[in-house]
Amino acid sequence: MSDDIAKINAAAAALDYVEDGMTIGLGTGSTAAHFVRLLGERVRQGAVVLGVPTSEATRALAEATGVPLVDLARVTQIHLVVDGADEIDHDFNLIKGGGGALLREKIIASAADHVVIIADQSKPVQRLGGFPLPIEVAPFGFTITARQIFEVLREAGCAGDEVTLRHGAQPTLPFITDNGNFILDAACKSIPDPAALADMLSAIPGVIEHGLFIELAHTIIIGGEDDVEVWEEGDDE
Ligand code: A5P
Repeated sequence: MSDDIAKINAAAAALDYVEDGMTIGLGTGSTAAHFVRLLGERVRQGAVVLGVPTSEATRALAEATGVPLVDLARVTQIHLVVDGADEIDHDFNLIKGGGGALLREKIIASAADHVVIIADQSKPVQRLGGFPLPIEVAPFGFTITARQIFEVLREAGCAGDEVTLRHGAQPTLPFITDNGNFILDAACKSIPDPAALADMLSAIPGVIEHGLFIELAHTIIIGGEDDVEVWEEGDDE
């Protein structure tokens, strides 16, 4: 319950970054969902914004809460993205993709002027890797891709090297992303150099995208039960 209050507090603080006329990337996950609901309230009170959802789940939620959406192909500028994260380090690097939406989340974050990450206090870590790293892969040849990822984890000095295929609601069937791909979860345990691992994973042919978000976040809002902590890129500590 208190986790939920912390997520709501972080989501509410992100509303401070919203201005009329903005096109806003809408993240995926339970924390981002709070933001979408709060933004829907703002729209009902007269705010003029357009949303770009990062998943079909977020699209459905935005439609239900009354946030007007725009087709990404018609967008020339994304002013703001508000999204959650699975892990956050003090260099503003993230692990994302616990909800399986990492590809669309990264495409939209990479194109945005300002990326705001909202989370509760369970997400900041000293070193990334405790949360299994989600990697979106092509279904074709995914066992070969998994083997290559396994080798890369070893080469990158990760403490763990287990790579597992994510399953969906039906335990016998793979989880399928909104883009029709599979997710491999890589239990890295500890990632010594996230940027180096990101480059190594991107070089594997079957990897569509991975959940390491390097230098994409500008603002991080950590919600507590009664208040929020805001980290701005460039601030000391
Ligand atoms: C979705 O694919 C993820 O990147 C989410 O942003 C991440 O899993 C955080 O989700 P919660 O806000 O539910 O913890």
